[in-house]
Amino acid sequence: MGAGMDMPPELVVDRLLDDPGTRIIVCCGAGGVGKTTTAAALGLRAAERGRKVVVLTIDPARRLAQSMGIDSLDNTPRKVAGVAGGGELHAMMLDMKRTFDEIVESHADGDRAAAILANPFYQSLSAGFAGTQEYMAMEKLGQLRARDDWDLIVVDTPPSRSALDFLDAPKRLGSFLDGKFIRVLTAPAKVGGRAGMKFLNVGMSLMTGTLNKLMGASLLGDVQTFVAAMDTMFGGFRTRADATFRLLQAPGTAFLVVAAPEPDALREAAYFVERLGAERMPLAGLVLNRVHGSGAGQLSAERALAVAENLEEGGIVDQEAGKAGLGAPAAHSPAGGSAPESEGVEAGADADAPEGADVEGITAGLLRLHAERMQLIAREQRTRDRFTSMHPDVAVTEVAALPGDVHDLAGLRAIGERLAAGVPAGA
Ligand SMILES: Nc1ncnc2c1ncn2[C@@H]1O[C@H](COP(=O)(O)OP(=O)(O)O)[C@@H](O)[C@H]1O
Ligand SMILES: [Mg+2]
Repeated sequence: MGAGMDMPPELVVDRLLDDPGTRIIVCCGAGGVGKTTTAAALGLRAAERGRKVVVLTIDPARRLAQSMGIDSLDNTPRKVAGVAGGGELHAMMLDMKRTFDEIVESHADGDRAAAILANPFYQSLSAGFAGTQEYMAMEKLGQLRARDDWDLIVVDTPPSRSALDFLDAPKRLGSFLDGKFIRVLTAPAKVGGRAGMKFLNVGMSLMTGTLNKLMGASLLGDVQTFVAAMDTMFGGFRTRADATFRLLQAPGTAFLVVAAPEPDALREAAYFVERLGAERMPLAGLVLNRVHGSGAGQLSAERALAVAENLEEGGIVDQEAGKAGLGAPAAHSPAGGSAPESEGVEAGADADAPEGADVEGITAGLLRLHAERMQLIAREQRTRDRFTSMHPDVAVTEVAALPGDVHDLAGLRAIGERLAAGVPAGA
């Protein structure tokens, strides 16, 4: 172990949170790595350090949402109770369909909006195509930013199959709306007259089969209403998608890539880091979440295994067993003093209890567990070092794996403290 030459630069989370120039933090990464937890923990920490924060969560676990008072989906930020310090934390859970509806309502007048919302084509479109959730998160971010009510917006991202959906969604929605499918549908509205009707009929006869499957009868009328109304909004979608993209590239935005210290997760994180770079999105750093540690790190895996083996074989632990491990001084050598645990082991073995064999068996089992943990820690460090050697400029912070899941403000605070503590010295 030991601090290698490739220690990553440290991600100083509190500096990021305290900087009034930081207006948006986006937590991204593969599914299940702790994006939602990290976003909520950062939001709470920033609020308790005095900022007025809103956190936009996408899919909070039920208990976490309840503890933040956002378990109902009303698509508006709610003030979180129990936040200490001078700031404020507001939280909301994204309701994708509701956000889509709000866009329609704000861009079409009453009757027209009602017609669109009731339209089956709209209903399948608004929930159906890939990337909707990603796109709606961006729409909501744009809305929150436009209100200018908060010092800091922390954004969680959807549990995408691919981490890249998040960046691709605005473009994909744009090309969907600009695409052939919609162009054919909108052609009559734009061209008009007999030629347009003829084109409509050709287009429709080609697509009727597919569309019928999508939404059944009374198709044509629905599509026509929808298209006529959406037509006025196409420009709007495209413009806002572009505006949100630029907002993400702006200096007040900071991306954090969250990943587990496992090869697959870090490969995906590396890919994400590269993609953010290619899109000129400002990357603040990498959060390595659920990193394992040990309170007994001074007892090496090798030594623990050697002692365990010795206990299981003979039940007598002597200096030779200690030496068999690492060539480290045996525990009761006066100059040693580096392995107090093994002194405990030897004391146990020397105690000569009637159930000595059982005690030794259990002790050996515990030592083997400890060895496994130490090997896991070493593997995680190697994985991190590999990432760092590929991306030496990416700042890193580590968050220990907590014993239980994170479902209340106290848990979020604990995560926040670890986020701020950086990479433990000597890791
Ligand atoms: N450092 C941690 N220690 C313990 N549990 C964690 C930690 N980070 C996340 N969790 C738990 O892991 C689960 C998934 O986390 P979540 O933030 O929902 O991931 P994501 O949003 O990336 O899918 C949740 O149950 C959460 O409480
Ligand atoms: Mg999540």
